This record gives sequence, structure tokens and C-alpha cells, in this order.
Amino acid sequence: MEKRTNEKRVILFPLPLQGCINPMLQLATILFSRGFSITIIHTRFNAPKSSDHPLFTFLQMADGLSETQTQSPDLLLKLTLLNENCEKPLRECLAKLLKPDSDSETEQEKISCLIDDSGWTFTQSVAESFNLPRFVLCAYKFTFFLGHLLVPQLRRHGFLPFPDSEAEDLVPEFPPLRKKDLSRIMGTSSQMEMLDSYLVKILESTKPASGIIVMSCQELDQDSLAESHKVFNFPIFPIGPSHIHDVPASSSSLFEPDQSCIPWLDNQETKSVIYVSLGSIVTMSESEFLEIAFGLRNTDLAFLWVVRPGSVQGRDWIESLPVGFMESLDGKGKIVKWAPQLDVLAHRATGGFLTHNGWNSTLESICEGVPMISLPFVWDQMLNARFISEVWRIGIHLEGRIERREIERAVRRVMVDSEGEEIQARIKVLQDEVRRSVKRGGSSSRSLDDLVNRILSF
Ligand code: UDX
Repeated sequence: MEKRTNEKRVILFPLPLQGCINPMLQLATILFSRGFSITIIHTRFNAPKSSDHPLFTFLQMADGLSETQTQSPDLLLKLTLLNENCEKPLRECLAKLLKPDSDSETEQEKISCLIDDSGWTFTQSVAESFNLPRFVLCAYKFTFFLGHLLVPQLRRHGFLPFPDSEAEDLVPEFPPLRKKDLSRIMGTSSQMEMLDSYLVKILESTKPASGIIVMSCQELDQDSLAESHKVFNFPIFPIGPSHIHDVPASSSSLFEPDQSCIPWLDNQETKSVIYVSLGSIVTMSESEFLEIAFGLRNTDLAFLWVVRPGSVQGRDWIESLPVGFMESLDGKGKIVKWAPQLDVLAHRATGGFLTHNGWNSTLESICEGVPMISLPFVWDQMLNARFISEVWRIGIHLEGRIERREIERAVRRVMVDSEGEEIQARIKVLQDEVRRSVKRGGSSSRSLDDLVNRILSF
């Protein structure tokens, strides 16, 4: 296959975070399969690998982040700076692409629209200035996206502080979150103004868009999708998990996946391995890392654990494990820097997933029918974990301090006890429903058709 010309072209602009790049690039693959040409505009920071997608055109733009800023663990600050710095370069990129006499590849094509992440807050006005329709990609559970409204509102109405005795109470406006979950989402007081103003900007810049594409489906988000007309009066396209549509799942890993995971899993019994990964952003203290390590070892079960370099605060990688720790596992544990996660979750040997519940990991686990042990750290992870344990009941919530006995107990509950079998049965039902939604005639498949028709109508 070759890059296309003479077609309608779609421009996609991902937010430069692994959890946002994956669904955006997978959406690009889906749109390519529907006949669109694809241009990906991206920042220098966390640039996707163009060699993984030879049929797309990639355009890198300056993002103004210094080396120190790219290393900063302060995500909110990084997103704020990116939003401040990227408007001019994006404008220049689009001006070049939309100029009638621009390069020969695009001159015969019509650029149909811009699709960018909800985390970009300046793109609506840029798109409008070029008369370019814009779609917003929501890479969260839609309940959480609607919750962007609630966080600043509840704070203004004096939600914080609340007495300890109310910590377990549900937040009536934002179920199934409890007060203690919402307070973690609201962040520390030093950041609250910055967070609230960012959330308001996200919503304000989404409202005038031509539509929102949601990486979720009716089967997972029915209530919030039904509520959406109260906030947005444009079409919403819940196209389902992008990686299970009928196109090859493309890799968009910023890190090199360690392929030795698969032959290692091949040598393990069916559903015997607990897979552990906390995504691309979460960091933990050294003592939390050691508690997880000993908790996993004490289960006496096989585990495959992704420890991202730099994710243990103050350490390069796993050097704080005591001497002889790996040997003491007797081949039952494997630690890697990054895994081919989709393949690991789809492997017959994987029986459970200890996860931070980023939305991508949550969807990927549901789609493979792997029960979860939720260890959420921040943000939407808190909400996803509540849906896992309380609404869908397809996993258990590891709460409180990260402590080896708690980890051992939780892993055993899912992997060994009869409770695990009940969880397994429930997740199988949900897995089938979600997978059915992307098949011809299913709700996600119909939504995708609607989206394609909408883009073609421009
Ligand atoms: C971030 C936020 O933390 C999360 O809360 C939000 O929902 C999305 O953006 P991240 O922490 O990276 O995402 O988690 P997640 O959404 O799960 O995305 C991680 C992606 O990296 C997944 O697609 C996963 O398959 C992939 N991955 C992760 C790998 O390919 N290999 C790994 O070893 C770990």
C-alpha cells in the first residue's frame, strides 16, 4: 500500500502523552482504512515514531519545552506550558497545509477536519480561523469528561474540606465517587486554581466543536452519554475501544516493548500470571516499590511486572531490590522496562492485571476479559477503579496504604479464591458486550459510520 493522494485528508494532533497518543494513532489507522489520508501534527516532546506508521504523513512542530521542563513530573504544569507554547507553531503548520499551492502531495486533496485531544485548549480558535471543522477526542471514560464541569463547581460550593467521618460517603453529584476519591482528583491546594482553570478551558473550547469522539461505548458509558445533551449540543461519537476495530492494532509505543515477555508467558500455565503495570506517568516511592515487590513474591504466584525506568522516585530502575531477590523467585517473576501490553493481556497465561486504571489499560483489560486489581493513583484512575469494583464488579479495589500483605491478599482473592471465578464470569460478559459493539450493526460500529459520514459531509 502507498500513501494516498486525491483523497480527503484528516489532520490529527495528539496530546504528547502515551495514554493520549495510542488512541489518537489508532483512530488514524481506522480512518485510513475508511479511505482518508492522514497527517499527524505532533510536538517534539514525546514525538510518535513515524516509522511505525509509514502510510501517514508526520509533521513535527516546536513545543518550546526546555529539557528540564520535559523531565518535570508536574504534568499539569507541562500541559499548561504546552498549551501556551503550541498555538503559534500549530497555526503555522496549518497555514502551510491549507495554502492552495502547498506541496504536491496535498494540493489535490481537500483537508476535511482537525481532530485533536480534549487536553488542547487553544485549537478551537485556531481551527475556526482556518474555517476548519474540529472534532475533540476524549480519551477518558465519558463520565469523567462530564465531571470536568463538576470539579470546579463543587470546589466553589465548599466541597473541601469535609470531616473524616464523611470520607466514605458517595458524592451525590458524581457517583460512584466517594468524597475521599474526589478529594484526590481535586488535587493539592497549590495546584487547585491552575487545575480548575484548565478544566473550564477544556469544556469551553469543546463546546463550539463539530463533535466529540469518545473512546468508550454505550455498553460502558450509557448514563453519561444520555446526560451529554445537557452540556453539549453537537453529535457525540462513542466509537468504542479503538484497538479492537477491524483494523490492525498499530503500535505507538514511546518506549521499546520488551518482546521477551511473550516466550516467558508461553512457558507459564493458563491464567496463572498476574501482570502488573502502572502505565506511562505514575511514579511511586521506593518503599511503595519494595512493598509491591514483596507482596508479589509472597503470593508465590508467577508475575510479570513493568517497572518503567524513572518510575521509582530517586532511582534509575530496580536497583533498590535486595540482593538475591530475583533469584529467590525461582523463575516465577519477570520484571521488564516496558511490555507489549496488548499482547500480554491477550495471552492465555495472563490471569489478572494489577493496574493503575488509566482508561486505556482499563479498556484493554476489559476487551481481553482479564480481571483487575485496581491501584489508582490520581485523576480519572480514581473513577475507573470505582466502576471496576462497584459498578461492573470485574475486579477489586486495593485501597489505603501500599502494603505487602494487602497486595498479597488482593492478588490471591482474584487469582486463587472463588471470588476470582465470579469476577472472571462477570468480566467475560462485559468483554462480549464491548466486543460486540464494534462489530457490524453494534453501537460503536454505527457511531463510527456516523463519524465517517459526518467528516465526508464537510
Ligand atoms: C494517562 C493517565 O495516567 C490516565 O489516567 C488516563 O486515563 C490516560 O492518560 P497512562 O497512565 O499512560 O495514561 O495509562 P493508560 O491510559 O493505561 O495508557 C497506557 C498505554 O500504554 C496503554 O495503551 C498500554 O497498553 C500501553 N503500555 C503500558 C504498553 O504498551 N506497555 C507497558 O508496559 C505499559
